[in-house]
Amino acid sequence: MRAIIKKAKKYMQNRRYNKISSPESYAIGSAQWLQAVEKKFGGYVEGVRRHKVSKRDPRSVEQLSVGGMIGGDRMFHHNYASEYSRALSPLLKDRSANLTIVEIGILQGTGLALWKELFPNADVLGLDIDTSHYNNNLPRLLENGAFIAGQPELHLFDQFVDGEERVREILNGRKPSIVIDDGFHSLETIENSAMAFKGYLSNSFVYFSEDNKDAHIPLRKVFPNKCITSENSLCVVEDFHEA
Ligand SMILES: C[S@@+](CC[C@H](N)C(=O)[O-])C[C@H]1O[C@@H](n2cnc3c(N)ncnc32)[C@H](O)[C@@H]1O
Repeated sequence: MRAIIKKAKKYMQNRRYNKISSPESYAIGSAQWLQAVEKKFGGYVEGVRRHKVSKRDPRSVEQLSVGGMIGGDRMFHHNYASEYSRALSPLLKDRSANLTIVEIGILQGTGLALWKELFPNADVLGLDIDTSHYNNNLPRLLENGAFIAGQPELHLFDQFVDGEERVREILNGRKPSIVIDDGFHSLETIENSAMAFKGYLSNSFVYFSEDNKDAHIPLRKVFPNKCITSENSLCVVEDFHEA
């Protein structure tokens, strides 16, 4: 019985996914637009084989050899689109601003393409332990119309190891307004990366941590006085000041 319900749910989800129109059909920055752009730039992928992991990755060789990584799943499959649309709304008032946006955990670059589409003049920085999946997928992203306003900057980054010093080097004076942590997703790496970025964020910022329902625990430690919301395995730290 459970298997039938699961199958039916999957079928209904696929139907809804197939019904998503092209981004032009929706208001820019709306939840539907975010889902449509994610789909346009490749959408949901699964079983992406790991080429490189952290020396401090706690998983066994056996665990690492099965399954694979999933990407392009934040807006529709995880259903984070409404929360992203809401939390980004203060910044959407000026999409032409020269913001700095950092995504940790980029896989094939679907997210990077989405951020650049949303904020064309932003410096979009992609950080990952392994940038090869992005590099291999770049021709496909370009074919699908990504990065018309310029390509993102890529940096090797290990969330277990790299801290404040590496972040300072990567940012080189820039102050991110948006940080998305979609990397390793453990409480240790969530705290490490938040600690590393904390001192370098813009005066107004939003910090997203995906796919760990307990992320609010380390994030409350790192950002004790900030507004933190946690829903549906997405934790958002917000600090906005009127210009
Ligand atoms: C869920 S995928 C990211 C999906 C991507 N954000 C998207 O929009 O499709 C997770 C990514 O985290 C990276 N990763 C895994 N361990 C990491 C670590 N220790 N430090 C940094 N990145 C890591 C993987 O290489 C992979 O690219």
